[in-house]
This record gives sequence, structure tokens and C-alpha cells, in this order.
Amino acid sequence: MSEAVSRVGVVGAGQMGGGIAEVSARAGADVLVWEATEELAAGGRARILKSLDRAVSSGKITERERDQAAERLTFTTDLADFADRQLVVEAIVENEAVKAEIFGKLDEVVTDPDAVLASNTSSLPIQRIATATKNPGRVLGLHFFNPVPVLPLVEVISSLSTSETAAARAEQFASEVLGKQVVRATDRSGFIVNALLVPYLLSAIRMYESGFATAEDIDKGMMLGCAHPMGPLKLADLVGLDTVKFIADAMYAEYKEPTYAAPPLLLRLVEAGYVGKKSGRGIYEYP
Ligand code: CAA
Ligand code: NAD
Repeated sequence: MSEAVSRVGVVGAGQMGGGIAEVSARAGADVLVWEATEELAAGGRARILKSLDRAVSSGKITERERDQAAERLTFTTDLADFADRQLVVEAIVENEAVKAEIFGKLDEVVTDPDAVLASNTSSLPIQRIATATKNPGRVLGLHFFNPVPVLPLVEVISSLSTSETAAARAEQFASEVLGKQVVRATDRSGFIVNALLVPYLLSAIRMYESGFATAEDIDKGMMLGCAHPMGPLKLADLVGLDTVKFIADAMYAEYKEPTYAAPPLLLRLVEAGYVGKKSGRGIYEYP
């Protein structure tokens, strides 16, 4: 077994990259986060610090633990700085071409052959991302759930090329360092959770679009009738409607079944820039 991971790289400081960086730093890892520009990096850092403050307020960590976690986080706009990382988790936009380009670069700069290059993709086959590298054995899926500090699950996805050493190292990091629960999923679009969740979110959007019920009643129905922590429309807004659409497109491309097709209302909301909670407006408004 390789040395336990203590030097982590995170590509992207959006909702998921920020969450993965936060939990890794809280767990004691040295975390380097990449963003495309200084401005995006500053925004990502501010969101992570706010989330750490929230953890202090709710009594999950002490002020000292918050400060120590913050000190373990550094930011860069240059992927070459990832040379010494033992595990890199990519968490940028759900777009195959963009992810493939990043993995090609990561494969060139990350020197340790035992280092793991992981994607937090929600739906893109890992095999296609791995093909963008010269060392597909160290590429795999490490799929976290939103909000990362709250939800305990991580899916580990091996492609046909992933080495068991890399998968075991990623699983060990998720379970022993981060304290997450791990499930292993097959490399099919959506893996386990999104293959079940996303058709449900799309069905709820179709139900709302058809006028069958109000958004509030659809969400109330699933919260109070099925004990879900939030209804499907609020959840789609939390995930990000752009991301829901990208996932739906990837799953539709994989399975060619109408259940995965993005409904027109979802397309219109994304085209309008109303992509959910992160933009202040989606199916609901977030003043
Ligand atoms: N970051 C950190 N902590 C957060 C948080 C965030 N963004 N949002 C909420 N929390 C914490 C709060 O601090 C609070 O902690 P304490 O109980 O210790 O005080 C706890 O979570 C509950 O929060 P709230 O009381 O503010 O709100 P809530 O009870 O309504 O919970 C929620 C909010 C955690 C988001 C909950 O509604 C929930 O779990 N919803 C379902 C989320 C879900 O299904 N996620 C999966 C999405 S699919 C996915 O991620 C995969 C993909 O590829 C798309
Ligand atoms: P987000 O919109 O919050 O952040 C997107 C990130 O991608 C930002 O860091 C942004 O700077 C970067 N980015 C956008 N366009 C880019 C480009 N052309 N080149 C390089 N970087 C670019 O998205 P998110 O919710 O953090 O999702 C990130 C990844 O995590 C996606 O693959 C998504 O499918 C996956 N994921 C999302 C959720 C969720 O609930 N939102 C859950 C699990 C996995």
C-alpha cells in the first residue's frame, strides 16, 4: 500500500471544489487549490472561510481548528504547482472537453507515478477522461456529495484502465483521512446515486412545468410524504440547474432514454442564467 495521502490538490474552487478543499484541510491535509484567475481563487477562498466559520458557529470545530484548517489551504492559478501532489481531485464544470484538457496537463505535471488523479464528475464516464492522459491507471472517479462537509458518501469509480492500487489509495483517503463512507460504482454515466437521483429531479421539473402542481407543493410532498431533507426542486437549485442539465445531457448520451432528457423549462432557466441558489435565482428565488 502507498503512503497515506497528505498533500492534496483540488482543481476548481466552486461549490464542490471548495467543499472538498475544506474537508481535506479540516482532516489535516496540506491542500493546494487551483482556480483559473486570482479573482476566482479569492472568491473560492472567501466561501471556504465562511463555511469554516459556520462550522465554528454550529460547534463542529473550534476557532483554533478553523485557523489551522485555513493555514493548510493555499491557492494557485498555475497547475504546474501540483507537481508534488499525492492526490488531485478535479471539480470544475461538468464538461468533458474541459476536464480532458485539465487531466492531460495534470498527467504531465504530477510527478509521483503513485499519485492519484481523480475527477469529481457527476456523470461523465471516467474512461473518457482517463484517455486524455498517458497514465490512465492512476485516473479514477472520486464523487462527493453536496454539501461536502455534511454528506457522508463518496463514490469511488474505476474505469477499465484504473489500477487497483490507485482505487485503494483513493478509498483509503476518503474513508480513513476524511472519514467518509465509500461505495464502489461501475463506470456508467451517473454511477449509483445520480443514475437514480437525476431522473427523479428531471421528473419533478416536468411535473412543475406541466402545471400538475406548484413548486412548493411538489417539494412539500416529497419532504413530508417521504421524509426527504429537501424537495426535488429545491435540490435541483442547490445542485445548480446548469450542472443538472450537463448531467442529464451526459446520461441521455449514454443511455438514449427519454427519462434522462433535459425538459424545456430546465433549458430555458439555464439559458437565462437562472442556474439556482448559486446565482440567486433558479426555480426559486434566493434574495
Ligand atoms: N456547508 C456546510 N454545512 C452546511 C451547509 C453547507 N453548504 N448547509 C447546511 N450545512 C449544515 C448546517 O451547518 C447544519 O449543521 P448543524 O446541524 O451542525 O447545525 C446542518 O447542515 C443542517 O443545516 P440547516 O439547518 O441550515 O438546513 P437543513 O436542515 O435544511 O439542511 C441540507 C440543509 C444539509 C442541505 C439538507 O437539506 C440536505 O441534506 N439536503 C439534501 C442534500 C442532497 O441531497 N445532496 C445531494 C445532491 S446530489 C449530489 O451532490 C451529486 C451530484 O453529482 C449532483
Ligand atoms: P460550480 O459551478 O460551483 O463551479 C464550477 C467550477 O468550474 C469553478 O471552479 C469554475 O471556475 C470552474 N470552471 C468553469 N468553467 C471552466 C473552464 N472552462 N475551465 C476551467 N474551469 C472552469 O460547480 P460545482 O457544483 O462545484 O461542480 C463542479 C463539478 O462537481 C462538476 O463536475 C459537477 O458535476 C460535480 N458535482 C457537482 C455536485 C453538485 O451538487 N453541484 C455534486 C457532485 C459533483
